[in-house]
Amino acid sequence: MSSTPNARAATALSGTGVWSGGPAVAVVGAYGHTGRFVVAELLRRGAAPLLVGRDRGKLDALRDLAPDASVRVASTEDAASLDRALDGAVAVVNCAGPFLTTTLPVADAALRAGIPYLDVAAEQGVSATLFDSYDERAREAGVVVAPSLAFYGGLGDLLATAALGDWPDADEITLAYALDSWHPTRGTRITGESNAGQHLVYSGGRLRPFGYSQEVFAWDFPEPFGTGDASEFATADQVTLPRHVRTPEVRAVMNLAPLRDIRAGDTPEPVAADEGGRSAQTFVVEAIVRRGRESRRAVAGGRDIYAVTAPLVVEALERVLGRTAAPGVLAAGEAFDAADFLRALTPAHLTRLDLPSAALVR
Ligand SMILES: NC(=O)c1ccc[n+]([C@@H]2O[C@H](COP(=O)([O-])OP(=O)(O)OC[C@H]3O[C@@H](n4cnc5c(N)ncnc54)[C@H](OP(=O)(O)O)[C@@H]3O)[C@@H](O)[C@H]2O)c1
Repeated sequence: MSSTPNARAATALSGTGVWSGGPAVAVVGAYGHTGRFVVAELLRRGAAPLLVGRDRGKLDALRDLAPDASVRVASTEDAASLDRALDGAVAVVNCAGPFLTTTLPVADAALRAGIPYLDVAAEQGVSATLFDSYDERAREAGVVVAPSLAFYGGLGDLLATAALGDWPDADEITLAYALDSWHPTRGTRITGESNAGQHLVYSGGRLRPFGYSQEVFAWDFPEPFGTGDASEFATADQVTLPRHVRTPEVRAVMNLAPLRDIRAGDTPEPVAADEGGRSAQTFVVEAIVRRGRESRRAVAGGRDIYAVTAPLVVEALERVLGRTAAPGVLAAGEAFDAADFLRALTPAHLTRLDLPSAALVR
């Protein structure tokens, strides 16, 4: 008797928890820097990653990380190869960027297979396209599509949602990013080039082109960063947050050290500084939500923005497979209980988490 993809997924997930039986999760771009962290996180939780990519040799070389994993060669330009790659998978996590090229073909393949699609895109435009054009199809297919479930697009969204607590709306949301450095991967560099001139900000109740202001101003970041120079920044959270929070303004600021790193052509790639492959980079992200004269804040800190993306997207996947989110195209704070989600990442992945007591109200 044949079974539908959804029925196969349900079978794989039956048991005590979503990872029991080692469900097969396809990771597209598995051998990329972020893909490797995602594969490791899936293995740690008990999933059976299906390693998907366009280069057979690089996939085979991943055996050091996942010796027993199945390997599937697929091209985002060849829909049939993607269908073969996703066969039997309960979900797909897309880590192949620039996402301008990969998001829509892989999301289409996930919808054909009837399985959830999650990605780690930092690119605002293509994630906005998913929200604008894929929601009805995702609902019809009965699956969750969750773009930008990552350091940019996921963490700030969750923090702002947790900070809101019982507030139904906000006059302004500000996300303040402080990184001690930003050693970009090859994928970040290529994505930055392909996305140049495409950045957006959310202001006056709509997405607008980012003015690329280089204006420098003082900002009071949480410790250990403290007061320092900062500049405006564009992040995927400016696409995700307005999808589920009523607010006319989502602003992002970043300290200057990482902006200088990312703009310099000779900044080296990240280097592993622990046994898990994390670099020594540290970050603190603060969400400040303002309503009238009142404001609420939530802060998270940790190490390595690429590494922390893996527990963010895999925790989201665990909750999606556990059926805690309704079908559709969803932002992190919309799909999940934000405070509970963030707490689940402490202390292993978020070494600091300060939530306002109002976050408990939701
Ligand atoms: N939102 C966030 O916070 C966040 C966090 C981490 C990463 N990211 C994004 O994730 C992407 C990957 O970053 P990374 O650091 O992992 O870079 P990376 O190490 O260079 O890996 C990129 C991966 O994508 C694959 N790829 C690229 N274009 C492809 C295509 N057209 N078809 C199939 N595979 C393709 C690459 O395969 P080949 O080697 O065969 O080219 C490689 O496996 C970037 O766009 C980055 O901005 C976002």
